[in-house]
Amino acid sequence: MAKGRIFSGVQPTGNLHLGNYLGAIRNWVRLQNDFECIYCIVDLHAITVWQEPQQLRATTREVAAGLLAAGIDPNTSILFNQSQVPAHAELAWIFNCVARLGWLNRMTQFKEKAGKDRENVSAGLYVYPNLMAADILAYKATHVPVGEDQKQHLELARDIAQKFNHDYGTEYFPLVEPLIFGEATRVMSLRDGMRKMSKSEPSEFSRINLTDTPDQIAQKLRKAKTDPLPLPETVAELESRPEADNLVGIFAALADKTREAVLAEFGGKSFSVFKDVLAALAIASLGPMADEMRRLMQDPAEIDRILRRGAERAQAMAAPHLREIQDLVGFLRP
Ligand code: TYM
Repeated sequence: MAKGRIFSGVQPTGNLHLGNYLGAIRNWVRLQNDFECIYCIVDLHAITVWQEPQQLRATTREVAAGLLAAGIDPNTSILFNQSQVPAHAELAWIFNCVARLGWLNRMTQFKEKAGKDRENVSAGLYVYPNLMAADILAYKATHVPVGEDQKQHLELARDIAQKFNHDYGTEYFPLVEPLIFGEATRVMSLRDGMRKMSKSEPSEFSRINLTDTPDQIAQKLRKAKTDPLPLPETVAELESRPEADNLVGIFAALADKTREAVLAEFGGKSFSVFKDVLAALAIASLGPMADEMRRLMQDPAEIDRILRRGAERAQAMAAPHLREIQDLVGFLRP
């Protein structure tokens, strides 16, 4: 018996990187045994900033290949791309009318992405979190595994569910629980321990992509920024050393250990020693995944077939919910 229903998503805006993997995707794979899982490549979210059409199609397939290579099983879990299930956009419109401007104004991700040129970003970027709430609630999902950076968006999804329930006098939507776990819930840039590892960072040396070769992985880790001290003996000492904390966190996550256990082994040692072992570990865990991804990419028709089947299953699940929601809102269904 499943412990609940999971929904989570990833944007097809570029390569999957180590942050996506350790913060989210690896957890998605592990949760498949205990939950009913729906995993979505969120192309509607992607176009909130400009995407080249050819490129968008290619990265959608590539992200699908990455998820499959990481261990998402399309026979048990549902895997699809968002645009192919109309329920997402339909429910997002209703949520645009539930969410308050004041709530959206507080979203830190919008502020970061819009930067100074706020007048010139798409309206979609602003209502992005409403679409995210729709993604989850179209399936009445109860749990959402994500990295730390999505926490605020999930709080907004709870607020939307709560306000909808209150306004329409119903208990229809569950209040979703974020699942944020592991030793690497916020993987930082390899060039700057204060910035998140992200697809939009210009320097390739800031992140490890899931498609990187062993040589690239080793080179990027060797060049990763550190401070001049040896590794500390205790986790408390990591607090004031963001780059050290990041590398120890990555090591711990890849080795399935705690930060404490990693420091028990490497405390007092130099970064050069530590980085060599980390590189070997990263290559051993990520290498086979990259190989499998390349193999899958050779058969795009098979990827498309998997996504199509996933979209059919997702639509079958969401469509009856949308009809119930229309009834609650008072839309005539003649
Ligand atoms: P996205 O595409 O930016 O990232 C996908 C997942 O990877 C996690 N992540 C990280 N975790 C740790 N360290 C990092 N440096 C790092 N970078 C990314 C993210 O937290 C995320 O879990 N808005 C979402 C996609 C989305 C979604 C949803 C998620 C759309 N609808 C509904 C959950 C539920 C996003 O842009 O993720």
